[in-house]
Amino acid sequence: PQPSVHSEQGRVIASLPTGDSVEVLLYGATVISWKANGRENIWVSDAAKLDGSKPVRGGVPIVFPCFGPPPKNHATSALPQHGFARNSTWVYLGKSSSESGKLASGGDDSVKLDFGLTSSELSEDAKKAWGYDFSLVYSVTLARDGLQTMLNVQNKGDKALEFQMLLHTYFRIDDISKVAINGLGSATYIDKVLNATEHQQSTPSLQITGEVDRVYAAIKQDTTSITQDGKPRLDVTRDGISDSVVWNPWIEKAKSMGDFEPKDGYKKMICVEVGAVDGWTKLEAGETFEGGMIVKSHA
Ligand code: BG6
Repeated sequence: PQPSVHSEQGRVIASLPTGDSVEVLLYGATVISWKANGRENIWVSDAAKLDGSKPVRGGVPIVFPCFGPPPKNHATSALPQHGFARNSTWVYLGKSSSESGKLASGGDDSVKLDFGLTSSELSEDAKKAWGYDFSLVYSVTLARDGLQTMLNVQNKGDKALEFQMLLHTYFRIDDISKVAINGLGSATYIDKVLNATEHQQSTPSLQITGEVDRVYAAIKQDTTSITQDGKPRLDVTRDGISDSVVWNPWIEKAKSMGDFEPKDGYKKMICVEVGAVDGWTKLEAGETFEGGMIVKSHA
């Protein structure tokens, strides 16, 4: 048997003969499901809008070209929080059997889906706010041993551009009180809960016991792992990038988000996001960048 791919009503669904599958909305090229070994690894809010009326609360929204509220006096300053990629409708560019990447690939064991976004797909508002000529290709590879998501950015214009990017992954977990995040080493982070002050990760393992919103920069290790009950659950490996955000809204923030349901859903999710968000990545005319992640799910 071969991997199967079909597209319907604004989404593309791929599955492997093993039963593993991935589902991607064209809106935002948002991965909204990834099942491996019979288990869903991605959290999506019960109140998430999947109709293109606002970014998906959950899944893997793509943050580009700015992370968080854009700074004043920057080329992104007129864009909304987290940019336009997560609320633009991408184009499905087709499937291929994947050759690239670090997953066991080739043959019947993997399938790669490509999605594209260029200036011509942007809303008039976004085009006006960020008038660069660019091309994004987002490749989602489903393989027997994991999921790979890579963002390729090309500057197609004749002037340099600057961007930030982040794959804002909401992982589904069983119980936040049993989860630990390892592999942040002694990286420094900006704590957005504590007024954006700078700290250094002091313990090898991070447990979540309240609201967390931390931006780790230049992490030395490639892999950040999520354990549950002390056992490996998900390994997130950065490729071409070295920053990561760890986010959980906890009780009050979850209450304040209209599209976050159920309200105690913060117990079932943890965002471990990979990206290039410490400062800006500059692309000269014609240059390209590629960065993303490989995630392995333990049975
Ligand atoms: C995180 C940010 O990446 O995204 C948080 O660090 C933010 O500060 C969160 O609250 C969710 O953002 P949004 O725009 O999807 O509500």
